Amino acid sequence: MRNRPDSFATTAIHHGYDPMQNEGALTPPLHLTSTFAFDTAEAGGEMFAGDRAGHIYSRISNPTNALLEARIAALEGAEAGLALASGMGAITATMWTLLAPGDEVILDKTLYGCTFSFMQHGLAKFGITVTHVDLTDPQALAAAITAKTKVVYFETPANPNMRLVDIAAISEIAHASGALVVVDNTYATPYLTRPVEHGADIVLHSATKYLGGHGDVVAGLLAGSQELVDQIRLYGMKDMTGAVMAPFNAMLILRGLKTLELRMDRHCGSAQKLAELLAQSDAVSQVHYPGLPDFAQHDLAQRQMAQFGGMIAFELKGGMQAGIELMNRLKLITRAVSLGDAETLIQHPASMTHSTYTPEERALHGISEGLVRVSVGLEGVEDILDDLAQALPKTPLRSAA
Ligand SMILES: Cc1ncc(COP(=O)(O)O)c(C=O)c1O
Repeated sequence: MRNRPDSFATTAIHHGYDPMQNEGALTPPLHLTSTFAFDTAEAGGEMFAGDRAGHIYSRISNPTNALLEARIAALEGAEAGLALASGMGAITATMWTLLAPGDEVILDKTLYGCTFSFMQHGLAKFGITVTHVDLTDPQALAAAITAKTKVVYFETPANPNMRLVDIAAISEIAHASGALVVVDNTYATPYLTRPVEHGADIVLHSATKYLGGHGDVVAGLLAGSQELVDQIRLYGMKDMTGAVMAPFNAMLILRGLKTLELRMDRHCGSAQKLAELLAQSDAVSQVHYPGLPDFAQHDLAQRQMAQFGGMIAFELKGGMQAGIELMNRLKLITRAVSLGDAETLIQHPASMTHSTYTPEERALHGISEGLVRVSVGLEGVEDILDDLAQALPKTPLRSAA
C-alpha cells in the first residue's frame, strides 16, 4: 500500500475509473444518452427531490461527464467539478449563479475578449455593477471592495498580456469582505497552478485549450466546493444557460488530460526558448513571458507557477504593421486564434480575440494595439525558432537560438 497521494499524471490517467467495474474496458465507456430510466415512478420523484442519487437527464448529469468532473476536481485539489459546453459556458453559468441585481463584481483590468464582453455588456445590462480594478496590486482591491462586492474575478496569467495576479493575497482580501473569488486558470492549467490551494473558491477553464490539447473540441470545466458546484450545476448550467458538455466531448477531454503533464512540460520548455530568442532580437521592443528574469512579476511567477507556461506576448518596434507583416512571413507557425494546441499558433489580439474591446477600452485595459500573441506548440523547438527567426524584421539578431 502506498501512503502518499497519486502524482498529477497518475491522477490525470486513472482517477475515478476502475476498468473492472466496466467489463474490463481500459477506456471509459461513452454514455450517449439524453435521458435515464427510473426503476420506479417513486424513485424518479425521489431523484428530482434530491433524496436519491442517480442520473435523470444529461442536461443535469451524465456518467461520462461525471468521470471528467471527478478528475478535474482531483487535479485542481477541489471537492467537486462540473463539465460545461465551453469556457464561456463555464463563465456565464458561474456568474448567473453567484450574482443578482444590485450586486457588484470586481474584475481584473485585463480579460479574454468575450469574457470582457459578457461582463461589461451582458451582466451590466441586468443591474449588476461591473468594476475593473488592477488586481496585480492587492491594495487596489482593498481600496475598492465594498459590502456589495459578491465576486472578484480574474485570469492569471491574463489573456493576452500575461499579467499575473497573486491568488492568495487577493483571496484573503476578498474573503475578509465576504466576496467569492473566481479564477480563470486556462493559461496555467492545474499542472502549473492550483488556485483553490491558494484560496480561490471557483477555478474555471476553457478546456478547449490545454486540457483538450488537440484543437478538436470546444469545452469548459470548473471546480470548487461541493456546495457551490451543486448550485452552478442546478441553476447556472441546468436552467440559466443550458451550457452542458456533450458526453463525446467529455471523452475527448478525458483523453487530452492523460497527456497534460507531458505536453505542458514541452510547451513550457519551448516557450522559454522562444521568449529568450525574442528578448534578444533588436526588432522586438517588449516580451511578456513570466519565465524571463526581467518580467515585472517574475518573483510572483516563481512562487505561484510550477513552470512559466506556453503562452508569450510580444511587441515589435515597428508596432502593429510590423506585427502583421511578421505573421504573414511565417511558414510553420500558424495564423489562428485559440491556444494550447499541438500546433504553434499566432494571432493579433487587437484585431482578433480582443476586438470585443473598443480601441479606447483596450488602451484603458492594458492591451496595446501592436501586441502579438503566440501559443507555443509541440513541434520540434528548433523548427519553431527557425520559423520565427526568419520572420522577424531584418534588424540583426544577437543570437539565433
Ligand atoms: C482565458 C480564456 N478564458 C475563456 C475562454 C473562452 O473559452 P471557450 O472558447 O472555450 O468558450 C477563452 C477562449 O479563448 C480564454 O482564452
